[in-house]
Amino acid sequence: MGIYIDSQQQLFHLQTKGSSYVFQILPSGYAAHLYYGKRLRAGDLSWLLVSQERCSFSPNPVPEDRSISLDTLPQELPVYGTSDYRHPLLQARLADGTTITEFKYVSHRMEQGKPGLEGLPAVYVERESEAETLVLNMQDLASGLHVELIYAVLEDYDAITRSMRIVNDSGASIELLRALSASVDFPHMDYEWLQLSGAWTRERDVIRRPLAYGMQAVESRRGSSSHQQNPFAALLSPGTDEDHGEVYGFSLVYSGSFIAQAEVDQFRTTRLSIGINPFDFTWLLEPGESFQTPETVMVYSAGGLGGMSRTYHKLYRERLARGEFRDQERPVLVNNWEATYFNFNAEKIENIAKAGQELGIELFVLDDGWFGRRDRDNTSLGDWIVDLNKLPDGLDDLVERVKHLGMQFGLWFEPEMVSPDSDLYRMHPDWCLHVPGRRRTEGRQQLILDFSRQDVRDEIVRMIGNVLSSAPITYVKWDMNRNMTEIGSALLPPQRQRETAHRYILGLYEVMERITTAFPHILFESCSGGGGRFDPGMLFYMPQTWTSDNTDAVARLRIQYGTSLVYPVSSIGSHVSAVPNHQVKRTTPLDMRGLVAMSGNFGYELDLTRFSDEEKEAVKEQVALYKEIRGLVQFGQHYRLLSPFEGNETAWMFVAEDGSEAAVFYFRVLSESNAPLSRLKLKGLDPDADYSILGNEGVFGGDALMYAGISVGEDRGDFHSELFRLKRMQ
Ligand code: DGJ
Repeated sequence: MGIYIDSQQQLFHLQTKGSSYVFQILPSGYAAHLYYGKRLRAGDLSWLLVSQERCSFSPNPVPEDRSISLDTLPQELPVYGTSDYRHPLLQARLADGTTITEFKYVSHRMEQGKPGLEGLPAVYVERESEAETLVLNMQDLASGLHVELIYAVLEDYDAITRSMRIVNDSGASIELLRALSASVDFPHMDYEWLQLSGAWTRERDVIRRPLAYGMQAVESRRGSSSHQQNPFAALLSPGTDEDHGEVYGFSLVYSGSFIAQAEVDQFRTTRLSIGINPFDFTWLLEPGESFQTPETVMVYSAGGLGGMSRTYHKLYRERLARGEFRDQERPVLVNNWEATYFNFNAEKIENIAKAGQELGIELFVLDDGWFGRRDRDNTSLGDWIVDLNKLPDGLDDLVERVKHLGMQFGLWFEPEMVSPDSDLYRMHPDWCLHVPGRRRTEGRQQLILDFSRQDVRDEIVRMIGNVLSSAPITYVKWDMNRNMTEIGSALLPPQRQRETAHRYILGLYEVMERITTAFPHILFESCSGGGGRFDPGMLFYMPQTWTSDNTDAVARLRIQYGTSLVYPVSSIGSHVSAVPNHQVKRTTPLDMRGLVAMSGNFGYELDLTRFSDEEKEAVKEQVALYKEIRGLVQFGQHYRLLSPFEGNETAWMFVAEDGSEAAVFYFRVLSESNAPLSRLKLKGLDPDADYSILGNEGVFGGDALMYAGISVGEDRGDFHSELFRLKRMQ
């Protein structure tokens, strides 16, 4: 059982395998937050709430009880205007124009399992016994507005999800100004704040700093979760590392503009909140209508960042990703983007595919440039009709020929976009996001289709569906290459214009749901100029993501390390590309490029026909090796050993769920003369078991491998990499 309710005390105790989350309804009707942290035994925990009279600048809602002030009370549903001066979870403009609300407990209900969220991606369960859901019904008595706080406890997956549903029972129209997904009050500020930040081709740097008084936040105002900030934040106890320390992770299942913030107040308490970015957002709620916020997935780990990551990995791999590829080993692919860019024809493509097939590669992916008159990136998006100049015998003929080689075929789309130079745009100039009378700002000379509109969505589903049914395509790369500007919709009335960005994301989710359900045998990979939308929302529809447009092996160490904080390795696309690398101009050896790419969903993104026989032989070996270890890499437990953010060396390893084998990857970027001998301490092994290491004689104790470590980096030279394959002995 995951939820204990003490009806007498009105106390709710949400319990996972390793954590407890406790709150209580006070006699005044407020929902007070009592505790979030390491698992506690069930019992009377009401004493955890300490109320004390503070100062008159923190007013008291119950005049005769000056020990309670909303300004100091930890709360489940904080709002503004009745004495809490911190940032609220919710703010609404009521029919009378005021923005003051005050929510009190009305009732609650429990459900076995975890219902889905209408129109939104969310963690799901396969058996009702996997989760319990609690819905707390709160009401603003003066207006009649209802809020449902929705908590789901996945006891064994060790996670709690939160979201909120606002039901307008007030009898009049209201406007939501702020509707976040979760807000949690912590009793002190002795934490570090962790965020994943970066830029295009430099995604998800791990950034940590101690909490400071006032606000700290990451947010996107770009209409997508963004390269710049990931919809995730964590609080860490001071000194937390991979294996020790308390970590509170907050991951938002949403692909649009978001905010994650921590506010440290006058009493040095911390309020962490996360949800849709209230910036440039309002939502008109007519009487009887409701609004569902996206879901936040909260993970508490007493075992450091590694513990948190492994919890997210398992949950997102098994209960967020869906479809027939969820549990399947992913194919090794070759993609023609960096090999040809727009400059290809059927023969060139067939030759690359053939070279790939001879080396054991299983899937060929035709990237951008196969449709319309797309010889450059300034035209034809929206005209999803094959370019017969490049592929004179049509797409189906090329697919058949690649299939005939014994390979699967994948295709690139950018379904959300339209080029001003396209038949689609000429026919429907109002189908893009725009504001009448203003410039339509272009990015890569393209505009964004208005996915808040049903007619636009239907036409895109129809066009993409036509292409996908025209040939036996087994993989789709779904790209999206710019951020939103002039966010307005031709069909929405003035008072709903600020709903456009969220309606777009809801529309995108609908389109992806329709297409992925119509083509269940296609493996979908999302992409947004690489990792501009690497978020849990996309993972619900597409089990893998192209991690970054930066394919340089050294840069990828940081990008893949940072990404692995939250996202499972089965979702991380990583390819070997040519040298000098196209993004950073660095030349790294094929060995290192191979092992970095093998630390995710493996593939190549270069012209294999140009490789020498020796290079081809090396590729053949890499492909064969990856096929042997991919189950372990994609579905094993991931342990980070050395961080590229801390030095010259990076290492990580994968351990099979049953402990039978492990693969250890070690990388050293620059060589150092007379360097100390390096020992790499492994993790996740059984200290009492013995292991063999492929290519080494002898028997190695799990204890010695973890506590003393293996010797690494003996060979000098820059860009050095090593792989150790361990097998547990009986
Ligand atoms: C951006 C993607 O991230 C690249 O891999 C490639 O597909 C290009 N778009 C094509 O335009």
